[in-house]
Amino acid sequence: MISFSHLIVPLVSLILFTVFLFKWYGNPSSTARKRLPPSPPKLPVIGNLHQLSLLPHRSLQALSKSYGPLMLVHLGRMPVLIVSSADAAREIMKSQDVIFSNRPKLRVIDKIIYGSKDIAFAPYGEYWRQVRSICVLQLLSNKRVQSFRRVREEEMSLMIEKIKCSSSSSINLSNIFVSLTNDIICRVALGRKHIDAQESTKIVSKLKEFQELAGFFNLGDYIPWLDWINRVNGFDANVEKLARWFDDFFEGVIEEHRDRKKGETNVIDSSNEVDLVDILLEIQRENVAGSPIENDTIKAVIFDMFVAGTDTSSSALVWTMAELLKHPKSMEKLQNEARQVAGSKLDITEDDLDKMLYLKAVMKESLRLHPPAPLLLPRESTQDSKILGYDIAVGTRVIINSWAIARDPFSWENPEDFCPERFLDTGMDYRGLNFEYIPFGAGRRGCPGITFAMTVDELALAKLVLNFNFALPHGEVEKDLDMTESPGETVCKKIPLLVTVKENDKY
Ligand code: HEM
Repeated sequence: MISFSHLIVPLVSLILFTVFLFKWYGNPSSTARKRLPPSPPKLPVIGNLHQLSLLPHRSLQALSKSYGPLMLVHLGRMPVLIVSSADAAREIMKSQDVIFSNRPKLRVIDKIIYGSKDIAFAPYGEYWRQVRSICVLQLLSNKRVQSFRRVREEEMSLMIEKIKCSSSSSINLSNIFVSLTNDIICRVALGRKHIDAQESTKIVSKLKEFQELAGFFNLGDYIPWLDWINRVNGFDANVEKLARWFDDFFEGVIEEHRDRKKGETNVIDSSNEVDLVDILLEIQRENVAGSPIENDTIKAVIFDMFVAGTDTSSSALVWTMAELLKHPKSMEKLQNEARQVAGSKLDITEDDLDKMLYLKAVMKESLRLHPPAPLLLPRESTQDSKILGYDIAVGTRVIINSWAIARDPFSWENPEDFCPERFLDTGMDYRGLNFEYIPFGAGRRGCPGITFAMTVDELALAKLVLNFNFALPHGEVEKDLDMTESPGETVCKKIPLLVTVKENDKY
């Protein structure tokens, strides 16, 4: 006969085993039952970092061809969800946008932009909502953009004159476009252009430095214990120096505005002549927003306008002109449209842009092939969720490869070809409703500067093709034009775009 004592050991073992099974399979945080997106094999410590090139949108597209449109790569130990299809992007930026509207903390950004007190990198929440709505209302809304018309017209005329008066045999369009977008932002955000050419050159070069440092996959963000390398190789020192430079510059700007406004009151109501710094200072003084705005917030918001508004818009113009030079038939078609719309008044104004359907198609096609921010800005999930049947854990960092999505053969016929005609007669737009095409992102964190940027870019393109005939210098032919991209948060054309111009005598 089997005694009870004989049963004790197997019974206890059974109970322990059951508890173990329950804990393992029953615990929602256990990964054993989770269905994770496919991942490429990873190396110890660095994960998949070795598979990223300096142009990560390209390496990630290549990986996604093997591992699918929703893939989990490991940057160091950090799992990062890579999104490369319109369906997956729609889930993240529309159906579950609220869960994916946070931004991760990034060390370089934190250091330079006052602990991420700007709009683009502020965590999702009340603070972000407040600063974003101030900017939209005061600078980026349709009404405000219209009110800056005079600024745009003056700056466009200066650009055309600069090209006409250039004595050089070839013209650097990349530099001309950076100056144009920078001067416009300067006038509406700071109320003035740069004090002199030296200040202008300096800020453009500092913005470029920022783009490079911010675009660099910062080792310390992914493998914190290797952070010391950034101290040794001078990276941290460069970040520190750049942060100090920007802080001095913006402090100067704020002081200048305080001095100018001494004695005046209520600038918000006074006229359209006020600039964004005036408005932010007024809100600070009056405490209009309900909670006080710190000086750091003012500096961070102005910083955003420069970074988000200069390089992106000028890069889009450079890529568009480069594609047109590579495709003379498209250039000719656009010039014919411009000349027809200009008609006997021999000029194009903002009122004419709505008639220029081919111009709009050209800009859209260029933004499809060359979105200036190919990986948008990173997001981070704030809850566990399910995307396309895969489990995504809270706190997962998300990168949306809009560059790969816009070249996905599933959505686009001959996706590598430059063909503006594909946008004629379709309602396809870049405002975040068509997820096959999201150069400005979408959802709550989508770009608020679309109208601001596109009014400048479309008008500049129209005036340029109306006034000039462009060619490549030194007898280069279309196929010689180098289209290599430069690394960075904003992807620009690596080699500046040089052209020769022949004035169109009639204009
Ligand atoms: C061709 C020009 C531009 C392009 C391609 C572009 C693209 C983008 C992209 C891809 C994002 C991230 C969207 C996301 O995460 O879903 C973004 C965010 C942003 N952009 Fe733009 N942008 C352009 C021009 C501008 C301009 C002119 C301004 C302002 C003057 C601006 C201000 C911002 C701001 C403040 C954000 C952060 C939004 C947030 O996180 O709430 N952008 N932009």
